[in-house]
Amino acid sequence: MTARQPAPGDLEPIERASRDEITALQLERLKWSLRQAYDNVPHYRKKFEAKGVHPDDLKTLADLAKFPFTTKADLRDNYPFGMFAVPRQRVARLHASSGTTGKPTVVGYTLKDIDTWAHLGARSIRAAGGRAGDICHVAYGYGLFTGGLGAHYGAERLGCTVVPMSGGQTEKQVQLILDFRPDIIMVTPSYSLVIAEEFERLGISAQDISLSVGIFGAEPWGEGMRAEIEKKLGLDAVDIYGLSEVMGPGVASECIESKDGPVVWEDHFYPEIIHPDTGEPVADGEEGELVFTSLTKEAMPVIRYRSRDLTSLQPPTSRSFRRMGRIVGRSDDMLIVRGVNVFPTQIEEQILRDARLSGNYQIVVTRDSHLDNVEVRCELQRAFSGRLGQDEIASIAQAVQHHIKTNIGISTQVCVMDFDALPRSLTGKAKRVLDERPKQA
Ligand code: DLL
Repeated sequence: MTARQPAPGDLEPIERASRDEITALQLERLKWSLRQAYDNVPHYRKKFEAKGVHPDDLKTLADLAKFPFTTKADLRDNYPFGMFAVPRQRVARLHASSGTTGKPTVVGYTLKDIDTWAHLGARSIRAAGGRAGDICHVAYGYGLFTGGLGAHYGAERLGCTVVPMSGGQTEKQVQLILDFRPDIIMVTPSYSLVIAEEFERLGISAQDISLSVGIFGAEPWGEGMRAEIEKKLGLDAVDIYGLSEVMGPGVASECIESKDGPVVWEDHFYPEIIHPDTGEPVADGEEGELVFTSLTKEAMPVIRYRSRDLTSLQPPTSRSFRRMGRIVGRSDDMLIVRGVNVFPTQIEEQILRDARLSGNYQIVVTRDSHLDNVEVRCELQRAFSGRLGQDEIASIAQAVQHHIKTNIGISTQVCVMDFDALPRSLTGKAKRVLDERPKQA
């Protein structure tokens, strides 16, 4: 039990409701959401009709499997406002997420949607151990990215004093943390390590940093990274999940008392896990692609949106809603190296087995004639940088190489570099993979 665990009385009734109450609410809201999409978005009407389904066909939650999926490509094809279910004049805010290619995907919110988002942001921060009166330093980027404003509205709604710092300007981040003494930080895990390094550079130790809670998301991170961040910043690190197409940060969020994966706020988003190739729903506990249907969104309802995130649904623990397992990767982030499927987080896990290495790393994939080569570039922690002999460095590299080979099954060249040799992501998500292989025709 942590001192920051919310008391049962602080939770909303629905967070502690019975599963029957939750599924009854989901069914009622799902009917509304299918109607909202079908009646107001020509794209959905066309897709439903092509599949021979109508919103009235939904009698049980399982009937949702009859409805068509929505993908990022659908959003791109309807750029910019074609997926909106309300007149543009009722859209109070736009956000956009950069796609890997071409146009960004645009999302819109009515005032009510923004209110729901703020509410779920507040619920997420409370689950993480935040409470009214805390100072909350937001270092997610502000702007078209949903991270900054999403976190901001949530923290404000909970009753926090918000510092809208945004990303970048590391020295200033650290100065403000020292001066304002925030309780909470909301930031990507990779950038939190950059901030931690700046504290180290200044000779400030973890116990002298005011932060108690860190709420990290927007990119995959594992238990090794959690341990490293908690140690370096002296806080409880919890996971927040979200995606712009579905809302932004706060679709699911982890509870400080269990730290066992983000709880999906199932009263607003209906989750499914499907087999990524066949599209068939799989049972709870099994791994597959996470799919969301929004239950209350007005401006841009999403029906069976394929997130590409690979994870599983786990039974409820600290709340009545189901949890997500760790995101093991994205089906489109997955590297196939000499036929082996590899996720960057798997390599991260092997690197972080050596306490002398930091969580900053890069995977470079090239192709020599027909064979893939993988170079893993990792970095020494500041305390060891420049202090180890060539032999020691070589043996660290060899050990990492060995762990990757035995645990993941691929051969790599591991290059151990000095502290700060790799580029840092100052505002957004770390670029872990440089895939320099020629594209297949
Ligand atoms: O990253 C929203 C967000 C902002 C979430 C701040 C959490 C904190 P997008 O830019 O649309 O939205 O990217 C969504 O990021 O499909 C996942 O692949 C990845 N992602 C987000 N949160 C996590 C997480 C925001 N906690 C995509 N763990 C998603 C792993 C995450 N991956």
